[in-house]
Amino acid sequence: MKCGLAALLVLQMLSGSAAATEAAPADLAIARSLATMLQSARSVISVNQERINDPALGDKGLSGAAVLEKAIANYTQATGRDPNTIDPTSYEGRLIRAQMDAVVEVMDANQATINAEGEGFKGFIPATFTRLVTEAFQARVGEEASMKFTAPPVLIRNRKARPDAFEAAAIRDYLEAADWPKGQIYSALVSADGQERARIMVPEYYVPSCLTCHGDPAGELDITGYPKEGAHEGDLGGVISIGLIPQ
Ligand code: HEC
Repeated sequence: MKCGLAALLVLQMLSGSAAATEAAPADLAIARSLATMLQSARSVISVNQERINDPALGDKGLSGAAVLEKAIANYTQATGRDPNTIDPTSYEGRLIRAQMDAVVEVMDANQATINAEGEGFKGFIPATFTRLVTEAFQARVGEEASMKFTAPPVLIRNRKARPDAFEAAAIRDYLEAADWPKGQIYSALVSADGQERARIMVPEYYVPSCLTCHGDPAGELDITGYPKEGAHEGDLGGVISIGLIPQ
């Protein structure tokens, strides 16, 4: 009996299938909230992409304040809750405000680029905006939390977005597994440097609009100068990876 159990444990360890403890519902709720805010802000950039790329237009009307206002409206529509009503002294309240401030910071810092007249494509696209916002968020929250927009290793364009060991394993063993339910979050409680963290991975899939840059034919340069990956609609395209202090 004892022997059998030990053998089972060894087997589980060898196959890497020892079930990790999932993050608690409270952690997942905060991660969903932060991911939704990131998506809400990013979609403001997506719907304004043509406008941003218009060489004939100067001021695009996309100041930090203007983009934040639209992001808040998107978030409120998606969640039924105005983010400004989240208690600013709570963990979620501090983090969501840091994220909203990061959106404003990134937009304000890029006004000259966005508003340049006589220039078409400016390289200001949703993925870049997303990375800049996660970096500005990280600078604001320090050790309190982490947020990154990463992807399966073969899809990585910007080295800053490379998955760490936990993220790479979560993508390979769970999010990319054939039987992983589309859209389901993967989470685990992990210990690193003596600190416990809730690590939460929110998957995102390619939609047709992504494929002008990430689709076929593989190897052909897209408008941004990167070789296309030959990806298909519905493939796992990226992951919003969030690390939280367990609540
Ligand atoms: C205009 C071309 C273009 C389109 C359209 C586009 N991307 Fe990208 N994507 C890029 C570029 C360029 C980068 C690298 C940005 C950077 O420097 O951080 C990138 C980066 C990413 C990353 C971050 C990881 C990495 O490779 O550095 C993910 C995830 C991603 N894209 C997914 C998507 C998804 C999902 C869509 C559709 C909703 C999409 N992209 C649409 C060009 C594009």
